[in-house]
Amino acid sequence: MASKSCLEIAFIFGLVLVCTNAEGKVFNVLSYGAKADGVTDNSKAFLKAWADACKWNGQAKLLIPLGVYMVNVVNFSGPCEKSTLTFQIKGIIKAPIDPKSFCNSSWISFQYINDLKIKGGGTLDGQGSFTWGKHQCSSMTLGFNFVNNTVVRDIHSINSKNIHFKVFACKNMTFSHVNVTAPRDSPNTDGIHISHSTNIHVLDSYIGTGDDCIAMIAGSNNINISGVTCGPGHGISIGSLGNSPNEVVKDIHVKNCTLIATQNGLRIKTWASSNVGNITNITFEDIIMEKVRNPIFIDQHYCPIHHCRKQPSSVQIKDVTFNNIRGSSSSRRAVILDCSALFSCEKINLNDINLAYHGRHGHAIAFCAHAKGKATGKELPPSCLKESLNSST
Ligand SMILES: *[C@@H]1O[C@H](CO)[C@@H](O)[C@H](O)[C@H]1NC(C)=O
Ligand SMILES: *[C@@H]1O[C@H](CO)[C@@H](O)[C@H](O)[C@H]1NC(C)=O
Ligand SMILES: *[C@@H]1O[C@H](CO)[C@@H](O)[C@H](O)[C@H]1NC(C)=O
Ligand SMILES: *[C@@H]1O[C@H](CO)[C@@H](O)[C@H](O)[C@H]1NC(C)=O
Ligand SMILES: *[C@@H]1O[C@H](CO)[C@@H](O)[C@H](O)[C@H]1NC(C)=O
Ligand SMILES: *[C@@H]1O[C@H](CO)[C@@H](O)[C@H](O)[C@H]1NC(C)=O
Ligand SMILES: *[C@@H]1O[C@H](CO)[C@@H](O)[C@H](O)[C@H]1NC(C)=O
Ligand SMILES: *[C@@H]1O[C@H](CO)[C@@H](O)[C@H](O)[C@H]1NC(C)=O
Ligand SMILES: *[C@@H]1O[C@H](CO)[C@@H](O)[C@H](O)[C@H]1NC(C)=O
Repeated sequence: MASKSCLEIAFIFGLVLVCTNAEGKVFNVLSYGAKADGVTDNSKAFLKAWADACKWNGQAKLLIPLGVYMVNVVNFSGPCEKSTLTFQIKGIIKAPIDPKSFCNSSWISFQYINDLKIKGGGTLDGQGSFTWGKHQCSSMTLGFNFVNNTVVRDIHSINSKNIHFKVFACKNMTFSHVNVTAPRDSPNTDGIHISHSTNIHVLDSYIGTGDDCIAMIAGSNNINISGVTCGPGHGISIGSLGNSPNEVVKDIHVKNCTLIATQNGLRIKTWASSNVGNITNITFEDIIMEKVRNPIFIDQHYCPIHHCRKQPSSVQIKDVTFNNIRGSSSSRRAVILDCSALFSCEKINLNDINLAYHGRHGHAIAFCAHAKGKATGKELPPSCLKESLNSST
């Protein structure tokens, strides 16, 4: 058998073309009836190919060759106990224009899988422009739920209806060389949105959207972000926390990133609410800002809607380092540390901050409320942190 070519084997076994190469058995969606005409709904073909690849004993590669494939909502579920799966997207996958079938959920989701690799240089086109601002759903392009040891590499996601990549209850995932784009005015098009997940890496990627570049919300811990360029969008965000009690984000390391003309740079936000929670051990270092409106921004009075309760946040922010943050701010308030009157920010470290106001008149300034910590190295704008808070803040 081993000496026979893939085509000969396919001929002997008839309909389904299943080939073997160095990456294991190949399950080509075209062999399952997929049509690369950009119109036919290929969900069934994709799911059948997945079912076979998932059952395979050994290395399996689900292949989506070059071409344009329309696919309705699909849910790729494990466990795939005997196979190690590669999902190779070479072509363009297009979402249906109307997201009714995946309102408040994902267009394409992966769940209960280990050791998955998604790669191939292809594109996921959410076709969001048809619904931005017009519908009440939040519809994600790719949703990962309960997925471990997974790599997403060399994939483009464009014009998501809302969030591009949503990571929930995952462990040990690496996104690298992903390119995520949506227009600056597209609503809620977060690039990568992480919650209840640990050991997540986002490396060497480009994310330009209408909302957060990367959002880390409740239950995000041990996250490593490096070599990411963001813009346009709302920047790299932790939070919002405080919507429910006992939410925690910790052990976040953001290094060697560039933010270009984003609304915020490095932001930590909590609702003005009485729910307790913690945000601790956060490091941002070696970050370049280019004309960012709020380069360094802790906001414990976050209220994007107009009727929030006016009370101090009960989320404790502690051990946050901003090291070697440089470039330009498009507003004068380059540093805002607006903490809670009830739980002041503790152990904020500013080291080598060099942010210039990119505007005609005046210099960059820092604003502090209830913010404790210390500044070392370069202090542009001059720090307003206090080592201890007495009667005044
Ligand atoms: C996907 O399928 C799994 C297993 O059948 C199910 O538990 C899960 O709810 C589905 N997820 C979505 C987003 O449809
Ligand atoms: C992922 O890891 C968690 C924690 O170790 C485990 O409970 C879960 O079963 C794993 N998921 C899969 C699909 O094996
Ligand atoms: C989707 O979520 C929004 C916001 O939570 C809600 O208003 C809407 O009714 C939901 N739609 C469906 C179909 O679940
Ligand atoms: C994390 O996932 C990668 C890729 O699947 C794997 O090679 C590595 O062993 C995993 N690390 C741990 C600690 O499980
Ligand atoms: C990302 O994709 C956009 C459009 O899809 C393209 O214009 C841009 O050059 C890509 N950027 C990188 C760094 O690959
Ligand atoms: C983050 O990832 C980079 C690139 O792989 C690596 O050099 C660095 O050690 C990682 N940092 C942490 C805290 O895991
Ligand atoms: C920093 O990130 C850029 C991509 O934005 C990358 O080219 C460069 O190699 C990274 N530098 C280090 C020291 O990791
Ligand atoms: C928040 O931190 C405090 C102080 O370390 C700790 O007592 C509390 O249990 C933490 N809360 C949560 C939800 O982890
Ligand atoms: C802080 O987070 C980093 C990962 O970013 C981790 O390596 C380190 O152990 C954490 N420090 C503490 C004191 O938990």
